Amino acid sequence: MKFYFSSGKRSKKINKKGRKLSKKAVFSGIQPTGNIHLGNYLGAIRNWVNMQDLYENIFCVVNSHAITIRQNPAELREKTLDLACMLVACGISPEKSSLFIQSEVDFHPALAWILDCNIFMGDMSRMTQFKDKSQKNPKNINVGLFNYPALMAADILLYQVDFVPVGEDQKQHIELTRDVAMRFNRDFGECFKVPEPLILESGARIMGLDDPNSKMSKSATGKNHAIFLLDSPDIIASKIKKATTDSNSEIVFDKSRAGLYNLLSIYEILSKKDRGSIEAEFNGKGYGVFKNALSEVVIESLKPIRESYLRLKSNEDYIRKILNEGLESVKPKAEATYNRAKELIGLV
Ligand code: TYM
Repeated sequence: MKFYFSSGKRSKKINKKGRKLSKKAVFSGIQPTGNIHLGNYLGAIRNWVNMQDLYENIFCVVNSHAITIRQNPAELREKTLDLACMLVACGISPEKSSLFIQSEVDFHPALAWILDCNIFMGDMSRMTQFKDKSQKNPKNINVGLFNYPALMAADILLYQVDFVPVGEDQKQHIELTRDVAMRFNRDFGECFKVPEPLILESGARIMGLDDPNSKMSKSATGKNHAIFLLDSPDIIASKIKKATTDSNSEIVFDKSRAGLYNLLSIYEILSKKDRGSIEAEFNGKGYGVFKNALSEVVIESLKPIRESYLRLKSNEDYIRKILNEGLESVKPKAEATYNRAKELIGLV
């Protein structure tokens, strides 16, 4: 049996004999593009928050990834800080996690270059996110967009972590990260810990409310596509009311009824009820009753986040302080890994 005691940021597990055991480590990132939606929250952020006591945690606002799509510089600066604020509002605790901004650690693009030289064009060309994004931005299919997974691999590998908690759409990028880490270790000597994706079944792929066959996404333009964490209660209720369902009336978990299945999955996660009791709760009742209950649970779950975000937003110094402390704690790890990779490959 293992016990935990908290001694601030670097709490350690202890076993029966009182020996300290290091916790496993996680790294994850999120882009400061668009507004954060329920998919980001249920697929990633909420899990990061809930797992904070179990792991050593590093979370990153990946602003360098954001410039693969053309950004307004002033807006990008603002959104980067806003996102840090939102992560803290969601429950990322500076006592338990290091939070930092990607562009403040130059080892990320530096390691990405070394990895670039060890990833094959064929492997990179298979990335579905590149295909999606280049279809959506046909006038700006830049080299950075293509190379994006190398930078993502660098983000992860710099910190020697065990797990990468993400939504399902990132799985392919993490597989590429594992491949390049193993190849580098084999060809040049042990350098990187090979991480595993941590994808929880529930919430891993939240779909658009207007189109339950496509993933909820920051870049989709439909007015009722996504619920954003900062949406007002009225807007949330109206989006759920208009969410696409079908002409059946039975409220049951049935994957072939994609719209309803998506809404029920959201309800399942946020209400913390099991599927059997949810089906019993709405047995004989129609979509109207279910959608009202769903609105209520979404509104109640997001309310404390909105309130906390608004409070934190007026305290930029506090957020800056968290980011600076995060930066100080992660930078030496990144530096050590980068220097080892540089030496192994013959650059020093
Ligand atoms: P990003 O910014 O698109 O999304 C952040 C996180 O939200 C998850 N997510 C979803 N989960 C469930 N349903 C959805 N509809 C949904 N939409 C998004 C994503 O899976 C992700 O976990 N490439 C990454 C950012 C990144 C990164 C990293 C992540 C850069 N470096 C290193 C992990 C480790 C991205 O674009 O996430």
